Amino acid sequence: MSNASANPGSAADFFAKAQLAARGTTSPPLWLLAELTYRCPLHCVFCYNPVNYKSNTNELDTATWKRVLTEARQLGAAQLGFSGGEPLLREDLDELIGHAHQLGYYTNLITSGIGLTEARLENFKRLGLDHIQVSFQDATQAVNDALSDTKTFEKKLRIAKAVKAHGYPMVLNVVLHKLNLDHIENIIELALGLGVEYLELANTQYYGWAFQNKAALIPTREQLEKAEQVVAQYREKLGPSGMKLLFVVPDYFEGRPKPCMAGWGKVFLSISPDGTALPCQAARQLPGFEFPNVQTHTIADIWQKSDGFNRYRGDAWMKEPCRTCEHKEKDFGGCRCQAFLVTGDASNADPVCDKSPHHDTVIQWVNAAQQPTPEEKPVIWYRNDQNSLKLSVPPVGAT
Ligand code: FES
Repeated sequence: MSNASANPGSAADFFAKAQLAARGTTSPPLWLLAELTYRCPLHCVFCYNPVNYKSNTNELDTATWKRVLTEARQLGAAQLGFSGGEPLLREDLDELIGHAHQLGYYTNLITSGIGLTEARLENFKRLGLDHIQVSFQDATQAVNDALSDTKTFEKKLRIAKAVKAHGYPMVLNVVLHKLNLDHIENIIELALGLGVEYLELANTQYYGWAFQNKAALIPTREQLEKAEQVVAQYREKLGPSGMKLLFVVPDYFEGRPKPCMAGWGKVFLSISPDGTALPCQAARQLPGFEFPNVQTHTIADIWQKSDGFNRYRGDAWMKEPCRTCEHKEKDFGGCRCQAFLVTGDASNADPVCDKSPHHDTVIQWVNAAQQPTPEEKPVIWYRNDQNSLKLSVPPVGAT
């Protein structure tokens, strides 16, 4: 019997499995992301959902989601994120939370907060929900509402206070970019005022809608440096027992790629609203793949046997410069989706790596962003049905 079955969900269990994963075996899918729906009341300009999400409107039924959670847990999954779109739009969310809790998952609700009420918070607590992550677009009403094309700032404030009042540990997530990086101090103060445990200052990664909007969203180096300084000052002021601040420099500004998803098919399993199983949320855009669907395959077969999950495991698939690179055990060649978006070939080295022959493309985009922001409103693609339909014909590929 494995440790997982002996003591499922414990920290020791989780890290034992993570160590297995690091050794490169076909380890368990420790992190399960259940993208319950692509529907969302917000229209964020940096949303990572597919830009042709209108072509993906089918959703799994409750019984199938419950089977997915059960099978993934049996395979060793320990952490479960309910995400979307906006997961609160699913009427069976309560049932799924209850089921996940009984299976022994550590559960996290990843939400905009819109649709959360005192009654739902109460019920989720009773059913065993462990954690809530609420997103804000900015600390100011004007920018928050402009970036999501909604009037939701005040509602989010109310609901974030209610989350804390109900005793949940809370992560506040704010996606950072050119249009809000200068507000970093206000954002940190907002989080402190709400009493959150963990502030995730997530510099934009350029997938989905963010990739469409990159010309408007890539910040200047000066903005990033100032923001990093402010974060460092707050970390010092808050000390080790204060609110935790996570600030990751956007990888367009790095010379080495991130070990995306901790390696393809190593620890992360994402299930899309229609049941398509993916090694990362952005992977369904990759051409030449037939990712398996949970309606026709078991989670064990998907994880262990499918081409979609095996294609970029290990390093046999790597071309130069990754194949002989001294960093390949650490970064796994970077991000497959970024390689596709920028170079048109997912098996290329991640172009944020300065060893990539395509690195110049990223440098050009970053350099273009150093120009002063024009006074007029930047051209922005909002995530909405009209844009989705427009962008889905033809499909968005390398540009
Ligand atoms: Fe898909 Fe990095 S986002 S592999």
